[in-house]
Amino acid sequence: MANASVTAAACANIAFIKYWGNRPGGLNLPLNPSISMTLSGCVSTTTVTLGTSGAPDRVELGGAPAEPAAFVRATRFLDHVRRAAGRAESAQVASSNSFPTGCGIASSASGFAALAAAAAGAYGLGADPRELSRLARLGSGSAARSLYGGFVELRPGSRHEESFAEPIAPESAWPDLRDVVLILSEAEKKVSSAEGHRFAETSEMFAGRLAAIPERAARVRRAILDRDLTALGEASEADALSMHAVMMTSNPPLFYWSPRTLAAMEAVRAMRHRGLEAYFTIDAGPNVHVLTRARDLVAVQEALRAALDAPMLCCSPGPGAQRRETAP
Ligand code: PMV
Repeated sequence: MANASVTAAACANIAFIKYWGNRPGGLNLPLNPSISMTLSGCVSTTTVTLGTSGAPDRVELGGAPAEPAAFVRATRFLDHVRRAAGRAESAQVASSNSFPTGCGIASSASGFAALAAAAAGAYGLGADPRELSRLARLGSGSAARSLYGGFVELRPGSRHEESFAEPIAPESAWPDLRDVVLILSEAEKKVSSAEGHRFAETSEMFAGRLAAIPERAARVRRAILDRDLTALGEASEADALSMHAVMMTSNPPLFYWSPRTLAAMEAVRAMRHRGLEAYFTIDAGPNVHVLTRARDLVAVQEALRAALDAPMLCCSPGPGAQRRETAP
């Protein structure tokens, strides 16, 4: 029996091995495996309430009607859910984030994970995590990983059924790992990752990246299980640089860094030089994530503040998506 109104919450995530490049066809089928940590405290909370069949959907983000592009993306996603459920009711979606948008944390990951969990509940699709992960992937590839807490891997695939996320280890496996997000720009990126994936294969560096990933992913899996920050950090930096090399050499070339991004990378290297262990990773934007241990957090934040004078957000390994059903 479907529920009339379902609320779900999901955290954002940061990838150590990045998903960049997907198959044509609009199903967000990644060309490489990706591995991430779910981020505590960076939560999207989404309520889906069913309306009447054939009526238009309504989508509210942070209390205001969604912009046209976000509205279209959400309705397309709801169409996937309706098709899978064999249902036709419209939906009213209300979503809010506990973290600022444009802060370098992908709200599409937490947003589509929460929307997938809430919409699947409202339309009576059940709560099998693998199925929800596949569904979330249709909204945003990285959202597939946010269904799970802790450390998570998203499998690539050539068909919808093949590509879903699975947990590597729960958040309790490495509770003192920290991700300090250095917010260098809140401006919206010019080319969204949803669009950027399409250009990955035009880079002459992409084949080299794909060839290097299996070994690097194995190092990251091992590092997570061993709580080995050195191995995790070195592999994460290498992977972020490899992804950005692909971005910069694609057609059109995509430059997401700003001069301050480079200054932050340099500050992190200088910290290591002084014996303070920290590593950077960067998504499709100028903001820099700095991985470190809880015991070094204050020293790392002080060093970043001295170098860049930018706001920061601090995250730990966080929980998976949760949902709350209300009476029909
Ligand atoms: O889920 P998307 O389409 O926003 O792609 C995510 C792309 C990166 O954030 C750059 C990498 C990743 O794996 O999260």
